Amino acid sequence: MLARLKKEIDANQGWIAFVRYMELALYEPGLGYYAGGAQKFGREGDFVTAPELGSLFGRTLARQLEELAHPILEFGAGSGALADTLLSQHAFDYRIVEVSPQLQARQHTRLGARAQWLERLPERIRGVVIANEVADAMPVHAVAWRAQGIMERGVTLSDEQLTWKERAASGELLEEAKRIQVEAPYESEIGLVARAWMREIAARLDEGAIFIFDYGFPRREYYHPQRAAGTLMCHHRHRAHGDVFAHPGEEDITAHVDFTALAGAAVDAGLEVLGYATQAQFLVNCGITDVLGEANVENALHYAPLAAEAQKLLSPAEMGELFKVLAVGRGVKLPLLGFSRGDRSHSL
Ligand SMILES: C[S@@+](CC[C@H](N)C(=O)[O-])C[C@H]1O[C@@H](n2cnc3c(N)ncnc32)[C@H](O)[C@@H]1O
Repeated sequence: MLARLKKEIDANQGWIAFVRYMELALYEPGLGYYAGGAQKFGREGDFVTAPELGSLFGRTLARQLEELAHPILEFGAGSGALADTLLSQHAFDYRIVEVSPQLQARQHTRLGARAQWLERLPERIRGVVIANEVADAMPVHAVAWRAQGIMERGVTLSDEQLTWKERAASGELLEEAKRIQVEAPYESEIGLVARAWMREIAARLDEGAIFIFDYGFPRREYYHPQRAAGTLMCHHRHRAHGDVFAHPGEEDITAHVDFTALAGAAVDAGLEVLGYATQAQFLVNCGITDVLGEANVENALHYAPLAAEAQKLLSPAEMGELFKVLAVGRGVKLPLLGFSRGDRSHSL
């Protein structure tokens, strides 16, 4: 991976934009974190996502999906855990778009003929789109607001080591950065790739809903004075750290999601915001406590892991508060179950 990065930097007069660095580190065929051999998910991997904790997230989400028209199109299905749970609840017509061939193979082993894999985005989409922790895994532009102006942060080599180097920002990035009111010096990320992705699926959606689950904030919290060092984070063996140059290709690199920007991209494409809530509120509205109640409370061995899973999903100290759910769509009857109480759409 390092040799590949050095080659790319050399071929570009000693500098590549961070967005390109992140793209290579995560998705370069055979070398990138998501395109190589790393285990990634679960106890033996680097991080645990909500569907990897167990079946509670999926079984609760199924209640929301059942009230909407199918088929389901899942982006970035990871190990296939969510699809596995949803398909055990309901015979959904299930399609997956996955950029990593290695993960696609893993999903196929797990799901077999129960799902269908699409090589590219369908021309027109009808039904439900879901993406759990996919937007945070999309490459972001790194930006610095300095006294002398707005800079794009990029990567260079110094004594053979990867290191940050800034250049004056230009084009769409500069225009976007100018709209964000922060006091210099301030460093953060702008998710132009995720926004373009949302615009693209939104434009193809004839009827239905898109659910984005991820960690992040509405814009005014994202670019808050307290977050002056940005949101870039690496995950390795359940340890989170901020050194994006430490192990390229061997660990996950992510940025938090600006939900205002994603909602805006969907609205630009003619969709309406169907709801925005914390993950905890969404799951409670969908009836997570009823799903929990279906378990055998008398049997501690059976119940204790489920209770621990609910605690992880709902607790404000874990995934309950930082993780959000955004739903946008076209021609959908409101209100959706998951946003029936405590919807925070007004704060987007
Ligand atoms: C952090 S993992 C989450 C996996 C799974 N959804 C979960 O919750 O466990 C990110 C996933 O998104 C995939 N991915 C990233 N960008 C994508 C894109 N543009 N289209 C489809 N999949 C994408 C990655 O290959 C990976 O499977």
